[in-house]
This record gives sequence, C-alpha cells and structure tokens, in this order.
Amino acid sequence: MPFIASISTGLRGLVTGRGGSKETGRPGGAKGRHLSVDVKSQVSWRSLAAADDDQRRIALVTGATDGIGFHTACMLSAAGYGVIVHGRSASRVRNAVDRVNESRSFLDKFGKGGVVGAYVRDFDSLDDVRALARDVLDNHPRLHLLDNNAGVFEPSRHVTDDGFERTFQVNVLAPYLLTGMLLPRLATTASSDDESKHDEDVRILNVASISQLPHVNFDNINAEQKFTSHEAYCHSKTMMKLFSFELHERISRAVELSSYDELGDHDYFAMKTGCTELATAGARGLGSVLTMTCDPGTVNTKMLLAGWGPCGVETFDANDQFELLTDAKYRDEVKSHGAYHVNRTVRQRPGEDTKEERERLWRVLEESTGFEYPI
Ligand SMILES: NC(=O)c1ccc[n+]([C@@H]2O[C@H](COP(=O)([O-])OP(=O)(O)OC[C@H]3O[C@@H](n4cnc5c(N)ncnc54)[C@H](OP(=O)(O)O)[C@@H]3O)[C@@H](O)[C@H]2O)c1
Repeated sequence: MPFIASISTGLRGLVTGRGGSKETGRPGGAKGRHLSVDVKSQVSWRSLAAADDDQRRIALVTGATDGIGFHTACMLSAAGYGVIVHGRSASRVRNAVDRVNESRSFLDKFGKGGVVGAYVRDFDSLDDVRALARDVLDNHPRLHLLDNNAGVFEPSRHVTDDGFERTFQVNVLAPYLLTGMLLPRLATTASSDDESKHDEDVRILNVASISQLPHVNFDNINAEQKFTSHEAYCHSKTMMKLFSFELHERISRAVELSSYDELGDHDYFAMKTGCTELATAGARGLGSVLTMTCDPGTVNTKMLLAGWGPCGVETFDANDQFELLTDAKYRDEVKSHGAYHVNRTVRQRPGEDTKEERERLWRVLEESTGFEYPI
C-alpha cells in the first residue's frame, strides 16, 4: 500500500536508534512504586490533549518505548492519532514522547497527531497496571485504539512481587486486566452519536505471536514445574490469543443477549453489569469494539535478537500492527472480527482451542488478577 510505504520511509530515521539510557524502571522490590514523568511535561501534554481531544482519535500503545510498539506509536502519530505513550522507564518514555511528537511532521497535515498522554507504569506490578488504567480513565474521555503490545522474553525465571512468573504476568495478566478496566471506556467511545467523528471504529489489538504451544498447560501456568525462556514465551502467546478469542466471544454474547431482553440493551447492561459506562454505551457501543489478535511479523527488535537472532525485518518495516489498528478493511471484513492474523491475513482458528480451554483460562486470569469483567 503506497500510503504505508511512504510513512515507513519517512519514519526510517526515527526508528533506527534507541535513545535514552537503559533504565529498566524495575521496582527493585518496591511494590506499588509509580515512576512519573516530570510533571511539567505531563501538564503540557495534557493541555495539548484538552485543546482538541474531541477532534481526533486517541490510541494507547503499551510498550511504546521500543521495537514494534514504538514504531506503531510513531506511525499512529504521523497518521494524525493522538497517542498515549506507555513504558516502564521514565527516561525511555520521555525519549519516546519526543520522537512520537517529531513523527507528526511527516504526513499529519492537520497537526492532530502527537502525544496526548505519557505514563510510566511497570507491568511487573499489577498495581501499576491498575494505575495505568486509572491514568487513562481519569485523563482521556475517549479511547479509540488499545494496542496491547508490551511484552517480554525472559532469560530466566523471575517471580514478580505479585507472585507470578514475569512472562505470564507482563504478557498475559497485564493485558487482561488493562483491557477489562478500559473496556467500558472503549464502548462509550464507540457509542458516540456523532458519526462524523467515526467514533464507532474502536479496536483492541492483542499482540500474540506465531511462537505458540498447541495448548495451554494448566499444570504449569506459572512455569513452576519447568521453565525455559522459549516455552514460557510461547505459552504466554498461546494464552494471549485465547484471551483475545474469549474476549470477542464475550462481547458478542453480551450484545446478543441484550438484544433479546425486553428491558432494552441500555437497561439490560445497567442491571447485568452495574457499569454505568456500559449502560450508556449499550449494544451499539459494546458491539462496535472490534477485537483482533495477531502475530506482528518477525522483526529485528531487542526481543527477537535475544531469543531468535536477527532473522526478521527491520523495525521501520513492521507495519502490521499499525495496519490492523487503522485500515478500514479489517473493520469491514467480518472474518477479521475476533480473528488471529498472521501477515495481516486471517489465520483460521486451527480448531484445537475449545470453549472449555478458553473458559478455563479466563477463570485463571480472573483469579490471578482478582478482576472480573463486567460482561
Ligand atoms: N519482534 C518480533 O519478531 C515479534 C514476533 C512476534 C511477537 N512479538 C510481540 O510484539 C510485541 C512487541 O515486541 P518487540 O519485539 O517490539 O519487543 P521490544 O523491542 O523488547 O519492546 C517491548 C516493549 O514492551 C515494553 N515492556 C517490557 N516489559 C515491560 C514491563 N514490565 N512493563 C511495561 N512495559 C514493558 C518494553 O519497554 P522497554 O523499552 O523499557 O524495554 C518495550 O517498550 C511483544 O508483545 C512481542 O511478544 C514480537
């Protein structure tokens, strides 16, 4: 697609280097520690957001400080999205903010792109994940795209302060929890009556991988029995894909059930979920939240180099996430809804995932995070 090619070329210079010192931002045992980017900068990003938040579409990219997430954030900014940058290290978030803002100049003729919020939250802590959700809920009345991109490939088994193996927590528990807390906001964004804003195009992209296991191993969710880096990673991506499938099923089921209820969908959601935002959104809002999962391509990021070596494309060519998030064709193609994409093409569900497996995994996610979805 020529549009994408020209953005890629334009951003090439932005994405080849990784600025900022390597500051992991790990808590060093201090649970609930919240790094924050210097307040002055946050205020200026916020005022930028307040100036025209109702004019542009808003995208949250988790793990936007490096690799594919950083590239996707730059692409979104260049395409005129207001971007919420998330990372685990203050210096790397600051660096990403500058560069995502710089990327506006390439194609964004109307100056809508750029950073509208930036948050330093480490998914090593589930409290930090909750705090990120609250950051977004408190500061961003509308949210159109949620890119669950952040991920790790761990060299050895590390248990977080929450008691979970880090790959499982960062790659699976964090996106489950974040998505659940933000789902009502995504639904109300989608339910806007003003069709000129195209608010109804709201998407969640859950980044999985072609590196997967055939099934969830419920006896080794936390890698207690056995840990290898590759197995823990593949396991996490298997769970991410199944989480995404089940989320799609739940949204579809809730919308369908609400349509049969004689109360009408708004009252149905109010009674069934107790969630004001979902009640406001109704079936049109919730049903418009498009959920997809994908392999984002094999890309020479620090993660790929650590686990597989330089066998992928360069980061400036890693456009799959951007396209899945923004290209109208995925919204229009019914087969994209809820589907797993490889090379931006729907990979049919292999049939090995069962309702039982998905529901069992969902219970594990609920118990591990203590968070139940309102649907
Ligand atoms: N590269 C590939 O070929 C490939 C293939 C299949 C799937 N994927 C998936 O694509 C996604 C992006 O991967 P990538 O290759 O771009 O990796 P990457 O370059 O290592 O970037 C990962 C991003 O996640 C952030 N992150 C890591 N741990 C975090 C934590 N505890 N809390 C908050 N943020 C954290 C990183 O922050 P820092 O900047 O601080 O490190 C970085 O921004 C991942 O989900 C990965 O599994 C990648």
